[in-house]
Formats: sequence, C-alpha cells, structure tokens
Amino acid sequence: MSDNHIPAEQIAAQYRYAERLKELGIQKTYHIVTMGCQMNVRDSETMAGWLDKCGFTKTDAREKADIIIYNTCCVRENAENKALGNVIWLKELKKDKPELIIGVCGCMMQQEGVSENLKQKYPFIDLVFGTHNAYCLPEYIYTVIAEQSRVFEVWDVDGSVPEGQPVTRNSAVNAFVNIMYGCNNFCTYCIVPYVRGRERSRDEKDILAECALLRDRGVKEIMLLGQNVNSYMGGKSAFADLIKKIDTLGIERIRFMTSHPKDITDELIDCFAACRHLMPALHLPVQAGDNEILMRMNRRYTREKYLETVKKIRSVCPDIGLTTDIIVGFPGETRRQFEQTLSLVNEVKYDAAYTFIYSPRAGTLAAKYEDPVSMEEKTEWIEELIALQQHWTAETLKKQVGRVQPVLVETVSARSDNTVGGKTPRGHMVNFGGGKELIGRIVNVKITDAGKNTLKGTLEE
Ligand code: SAH
Ligand code: SF4
Ligand code: F3S
Repeated sequence: MSDNHIPAEQIAAQYRYAERLKELGIQKTYHIVTMGCQMNVRDSETMAGWLDKCGFTKTDAREKADIIIYNTCCVRENAENKALGNVIWLKELKKDKPELIIGVCGCMMQQEGVSENLKQKYPFIDLVFGTHNAYCLPEYIYTVIAEQSRVFEVWDVDGSVPEGQPVTRNSAVNAFVNIMYGCNNFCTYCIVPYVRGRERSRDEKDILAECALLRDRGVKEIMLLGQNVNSYMGGKSAFADLIKKIDTLGIERIRFMTSHPKDITDELIDCFAACRHLMPALHLPVQAGDNEILMRMNRRYTREKYLETVKKIRSVCPDIGLTTDIIVGFPGETRRQFEQTLSLVNEVKYDAAYTFIYSPRAGTLAAKYEDPVSMEEKTEWIEELIALQQHWTAETLKKQVGRVQPVLVETVSARSDNTVGGKTPRGHMVNFGGGKELIGRIVNVKITDAGKNTLKGTLEE
C-alpha cells in the first residue's frame, strides 16, 4: 500500500460516528447539489454513501430536505457565482425551517479565505469542509446535530488517498471510478492544482476490486477518472497497463477522462485497438491552436505535436470520437492567434467541443498577465467558434445515419415512457422507441436521423 493512504483507523472512526448517529434514530432526509466536474459527482456519491450509513434518506426535493449540501466548483468565475447564489437562496428556506442543516464543500472551499468569509458573513451555514477532509462528513454531521455547533474545517494537506469509504451511486448502469486525485500540471490559467492538491494514484488492486464489484452488480460501463489519467502512478505505461487489466474483467464498456495531450503514450493509443472493451472515444483537451498561447498556458505541447497525436490515434482507431476543451481569450491572445484555434478545429473535426471564455482565477499565474481584449470581443470570438463546432458536430452526426450501432440504454425520456436513450460506443446519444425494461441493456439500433447534438434511431430485432 502506498504511504499516502489515509490510515484505515481514521476511516473506521468515521464509520463509528455514522453508527452513533444511526443509533440516535434521527430520521433526516438529505439533498446534495453537485456543481463542477465528474470528480465532484463521484465525491457526492461518497457523501451520499456516508449519509446513508448515518441512517438518513436521500430526497430529490431540495425544499423537503433536512440537510442540504452544496458541492461547489471554482474552475471559472461563473461556477463560483452560481454556488454563492444558490447558498444565499437557502437563507430563505431556513427562515421557514430553522432546523435545516446547510453544508457547503468542494473545490471552492479550498481557496484561501473562503471558509472564513462564509463563516463570518453567513450565520445560517452550519458546515463547511474542503476536498481533503470530505471523508470526515459523519463526524462533522455528528458535531452539528449532537453538539449543536457549527463546523468550519478545511485542510491544506497536499494529498492523500481515502480507501474504504461507502458509496451510493447515481446509476446502476454506468459508474465513475477514481484512479487518481489532484494535478501537478499547473496550466497557468487553472485553479485545480491549488484546490485538489498534488497528484496521487490509487493502488491498482483497489481500482481492480472496485471495478470487479461493479461488474458483479451488473454495471455495464465504467468511466475512469483523473485530472490527467496519463500520469497514473507517475506516468509512462502504467495507465495503459491498468486499462489492459480492467479490460480482462469483462465489463462491457470502459472509458476514461481526462487525458493530457502531452502525456499520451503509444501504449495507450494501442489500447484502442487491443482492448475489446475500451470504447472508441477520447476527450483530448487542446485549449488553444496557437503555439505561443499554448506555451504561455504551460500546456507543454505544440499544435504540431497535438495534430500528430490525433493522426496516430485515428490511424489506430479510425472511428474514434474525439472531443475537446477550448479556452477563448486567454490573456494577450490576439485575433490572429484565436484564428489558429479555428483552423485547428477545422483540421481535427471534433465530435464535440466544450468552449469557455477565459476566467481569471486568483492565485494562478495567468491572472497576473495583461488582458487587453474586451469581453465583448471575446464573446464574439466564442460565438464564432461555437458556430464552427456546431457545423462539425452536425457533419459527424449525419455520417452516423444508416449505421447500426450497439447502444447502452441509460434513460427513459422525460417526455415519453416509450422513448429511451443511450450511447453508441463513440459516445453519441441516441433516442429511440422502447420501454424502461431496456435500461442497462446493450441493443442494436439503426440510426435514422441526426439532430443538433443527438441521434434518433429504431431498435433492431
Ligand atoms: N484536467 C482537465 C480539465 C479540468 S478543468 C484537463 O486538463 O483537461 C476543465 C476545463 O475547464 C479545462 O479543460 C479548461 O478548458 C477549462 N478551464 C480551466 N480553467 C479555466 C479558466 N480559468 N478559464 C476558462 N476555462 C478554464
Ligand atoms: Fe488544470 Fe491543466 Fe491540471 Fe487540467 S492539467 S486540471 S487544465 S492544471
Ligand atoms: Fe472539478 Fe470544478 Fe473542482 S472542474 S476539480 S469541481 S474546480
């Protein structure tokens, strides 16, 4: 076992707090609101696991909950504003329901001064904790309920691996599996390394055990999670080796995110051909198309290197679905440099792109860079980029029409009981006629229509 693991005894102590709460027989309902990325979604599932151990029950109606927890994100300013707006709204709810317990946690709490500020300014908040001490939730809830005192605790530790926590998953069909936490890359715009700490990997045996358990429970698809999965166990071939092992477990579908372009190895690329269950889909955030901007972002690859990687991947797996993240208006980016992003998008022809206007984050290097381009101009740029990407998304989807694809059915449509939805191997969402008994099954669907972002099809007998 790696020495960065949280001692089993500390996890066991949390189970005892949960047990004590359960013995008190307090019937409480809880509701967790999750903002941000898949990491937060997975963390919220762990928190739900702990609250269930405390004998509490989940409710989908926020207004009815006795405990509301906000799991926040701070990757861009609008994420933070949304979190704060939401929390302040709870004040009204608490007026009618004084016993309501309000907790705020997640990445935003790891920023300097945030916890202290919330403590002073918002007396209706009962509980604040960060990403590194989230495993202490039972203890904190115990303190709030049994000792009637507020808890504001954020740790500044640089990384540990918690094993053995409970989890209540959102889906029985697909599941997130963490393989590593934190990030060492320090892209100059990004707050994540500051709020999530240094990279640390879970032991392979723990990951394989979690995957095997999920398989035994009938989960069909797993998504391996890390801020940069390529540096699992320090990088090189470790991640490809892990995928090859997971591939033998017999889980139908394996995906992973996120992969940093600078660290993609040939071994990993080969997995797309060699591993039966690894789906032909890769999220490969490029961020920008201009070399000077890439350098100032500290991405540590060039446009040429990125395009070469894309070419290699497509030669191994021609039908792969590539998606990306792009930042528009990085400090000092000129119109001409932005046009390099447009031309890269035209070269790669992504299935989809997540586009963001640069948002300065306190404490990051780029926040100190000069940023002369106006928000109006950046808004025009991003609209241009979105329109271009929409064109390529539409083109990609059109090409799927007429194909028969194995679709893993995940949901019943909100609009009709007779329509279900699921994903193709490449990751395209398909809606087609069928009932809820199909959920969790992989069925052949003939693609008949392409919409803006999704496909339509008919079930093949
Ligand atoms: N670890 C992942 C990304 C995590 S953040 C990776 O490296 O790909 C998700 C995305 O948010 C990033 O890819 C980036 O496009 C965007 N992002 C991060 N910081 C940002 C900022 N300060 N302003 C705008 N977008 C940002
Ligand atoms: Fe942020 Fe870069 Fe790390 Fe991704 S790789 S989390 S963008 S610092
Ligand atoms: Fe994710 Fe936002 Fe934290 S993107 S890692 S939840 S800052």
